[in-house]
Amino acid sequence: MDCGSVVDPDRPVTQCTECGGLLDVELSIPEPLSQEDFAANGPDALMGSGVWRYRKLLPKLPIESIVSRAEGHTPIYWDERLAHYAGLQRLGLKHEGQNPTGSFKDRGMTVGVSHAKSVGATVVACASTGNTSASLASYAAAAGMSSLVLIPEGKISGGKLAQTVAHGARIVQVEGDFDVALALLRRLTREYPVYLVNSVNPFRIEGQKTIVFEMMEQLQWQPPDLIALPGGNLGNTAAFGKALSDLVRAGLLTSVPRLVTVQAAGAAPFADYFENGFDSYQPITAETVASAIKIGDPASIQRARRAIQYTNGLVTRVSDVEIMDAKAQIDRCGIGCEPASAATLAGVRKLVIDGAIQADAKVVGVLTGHLLKDTEAVVRYHLRDDDADQRPHANKPVTIRADLEALKRTLADALHG
Ligand code: F0G
Repeated sequence: MDCGSVVDPDRPVTQCTECGGLLDVELSIPEPLSQEDFAANGPDALMGSGVWRYRKLLPKLPIESIVSRAEGHTPIYWDERLAHYAGLQRLGLKHEGQNPTGSFKDRGMTVGVSHAKSVGATVVACASTGNTSASLASYAAAAGMSSLVLIPEGKISGGKLAQTVAHGARIVQVEGDFDVALALLRRLTREYPVYLVNSVNPFRIEGQKTIVFEMMEQLQWQPPDLIALPGGNLGNTAAFGKALSDLVRAGLLTSVPRLVTVQAAGAAPFADYFENGFDSYQPITAETVASAIKIGDPASIQRARRAIQYTNGLVTRVSDVEIMDAKAQIDRCGIGCEPASAATLAGVRKLVIDGAIQADAKVVGVLTGHLLKDTEAVVRYHLRDDDADQRPHANKPVTIRADLEALKRTLADALHG
């Protein structure tokens, strides 16, 4: 739910204390900006961050409170095999998994935790499907703050849990799913002096805008026709819409790319909402192999709706089999990503097949998390024996005796098979 009010940047409060709704950041944009305003070698150390170098389009925070891990600066891969898989002539994939903690969350986290520091917060908290918690734990540790993390019990990947544990967050496993954990934490933070860092926090959204800023710079300010991304809690969809409207306000873009949000079929309340013309929204109980986006009641649903409407965008859904097939393609090209990220490619492919995206459209998709974020998913896909027809790209290791002839036979199979 949106509150409609503006956040007070001098208070450690990131959602409305009266209605519990989402607040906005007031941003004064010095129009017009020029492309040189983001030049790489700026006057101070913060230009080394792929977030803070865009600070003319970010909230103003005191420089001494900025907590940065040189996040951002992620590449766009243009792999012809993946373009072909999607049915496109050109497809870029911007890999946000190449951030310090392995996901796009670091971009919002540097702004959220810096704001927390600037207002004197000592405990920062989030509910998470794993990536936000890993990022929060890292940035809080860097800042010398305590972090509290609520996770759905047994439902986040081992890698993400490991990062969160190792960086010293206090972890509370909640019986229930992400939606239950977030609702609980939002209630707590309305009554208790704990700084909430989920993407309901408008400072997080501000940092995530820089994915789009950096993408436009990498494309020499020639926007693609479409930008595709996975959707879970929908903070990122909201952030992308805001980024595009900021760039228009700043005079840096004259036309906006269409946003394409892709959900997992078992976690697609936003796709349902889109399909009924944004007429009625129904939360659901989510289920998908892509645990990062296993979310049935997205907190930023109305902000995301505005982003899709503003860009004349699309929302679609893809099955778990489609997600894992697309992931196998991305992994096999040497790029790699976690399952939720592969929804991007699966969704674009589906929209091309359906005729909603033309083959000559220029599309940039966002890969949100690193392959190593979910090694269980890789092992399940490649090493299982059952359902082999659903996993056509499985690459199962062979085991041999420590014997040269056996090794040669295996090699012959590998070279000719
Ligand atoms: N991709 C990955 C890898 C994610 O971790 C998430 C969200 C998303 C996509 C969806 O982004 O929520 O802005 O629509 N992860 C959150 C978390 C929920 O707790 O780590 P969204």
